[in-house]
Amino acid sequence: MQNGNVKGVAAPVEAPAAAESGMAFTCTIPASPTVQQDDDTLRITRWDFEPGAVTGWHSHGWPYFVVMLVAGTLRIHDGTKTTDVPLAQGQAYMRPAGIQHDVMNGSDHPIAFVEIEVKRPGALAELSLP
Ligand code: NI
Repeated sequence: MQNGNVKGVAAPVEAPAAAESGMAFTCTIPASPTVQQDDDTLRITRWDFEPGAVTGWHSHGWPYFVVMLVAGTLRIHDGTKTTDVPLAQGQAYMRPAGIQHDVMNGSDHPIAFVEIEVKRPGALAELSLP
């Protein structure tokens, strides 16, 4: 599954558009989601990936954050091309809602991240401790 990219450099890789199939990557090992919280304001999901595992083609209805629990390479498919993104343990990023993608573990070891989807950003300011 490695494509020879220099570590630390995100580079597009030629890949056929496969959005029609419902999953951009042809790999069929599913990543494993564990929902930790799901309410009116947030959905927090831990995702575990064996090497080569994929989320499947999807988009998010809300903006979201991803926090890596271990270092690893996320191979992102946008329907046209793939990009390898090496990330450090603890590294985080945010994405807006509505971008379609498929995510594969491009590492040679299991990885996991926590994904925090923010359904009502304004509601966060109003939260109080239960
Ligand atoms: Ni996603």
